[in-house]
Amino acid sequence: MSLHLDPQTHLMKYKRILLKLSGEALMGNKQFGIDNDRLEEYTKEIRSIYDAGVQIAIVIGGGNIFRGVQAEQGGMERTQGDYMGMLATMINAMALQAALEKEGIYTRLQSAIEMKEIAEPFIKRRAVRHLEKGRVVIFGAGTGNPFFTTDTAASLRAIEVEADVILKGTRVDGIYTADPEKDPEAKKFERITFSEVYEKGLNVMDLTAFTLCNENKLPIIVFDMNKPGNLNKVVLGEPVGTLVEF
Ligand code: GTP
Repeated sequence: MSLHLDPQTHLMKYKRILLKLSGEALMGNKQFGIDNDRLEEYTKEIRSIYDAGVQIAIVIGGGNIFRGVQAEQGGMERTQGDYMGMLATMINAMALQAALEKEGIYTRLQSAIEMKEIAEPFIKRRAVRHLEKGRVVIFGAGTGNPFFTTDTAASLRAIEVEADVILKGTRVDGIYTADPEKDPEAKKFERITFSEVYEKGLNVMDLTAFTLCNENKLPIIVFDMNKPGNLNKVVLGEPVGTLVEF
């Protein structure tokens, strides 16, 4: 039994999605940490597709708190930094969980690193059951392994729970021929194939994450998560952002 009404699910192109959010985006206009206004905005966006009955899994980064790669530059061992980064994603995941539950959205948090006092362990079958019951499932602590990004965690979890698509919410509205924040001539792709991304050397996700999606036939949509209404449009199948397809 679903926990919420799903009158519009049939209108939605994607029924089960994995939403990847960047930790840095949670800073909003702050220099560090979590901006409550941004959390509320994201909650509203997620609510719009939740109310439509879409099954939602979320992976969130930790860059607003800690980045393993930067720690290595400062002389810390990479693995130590990466584990600290995984804990940072748990802090964001808990903040997001609290924000969603405050609005009456049912959630479950699963962690790739065991911390059973605050989260369920990641169990694929259980995650799928939660999704089927209409709970938003947040996956924290990345893949639980150093040397992998949260993009890779997002791809891996999306494949495991058999999501229809991975939605990469960023502050850019899609994939461009060059970095649009640096090159005014950069042009946006509405659709692009996996092979073209490899050929043109475009930066969609890191290659491990991207190749996982390619090998498992999982389409990716890169879109601007900070524009209100965008998430709903993406899930409806409207041409927002860039679709990476086969
Ligand atoms: P159903 O069996 O589908 O009804 O799912 P459920 O999640 O409601 O079942 P369960 O009784 O296992 O969980 C009840 C609550 O306990 C939920 O909020 C779970 O997220 C939480 N929970 C379950 N296992 C763990 C765990 O290992 N650690 C923590 N911190 N919470 C857990």
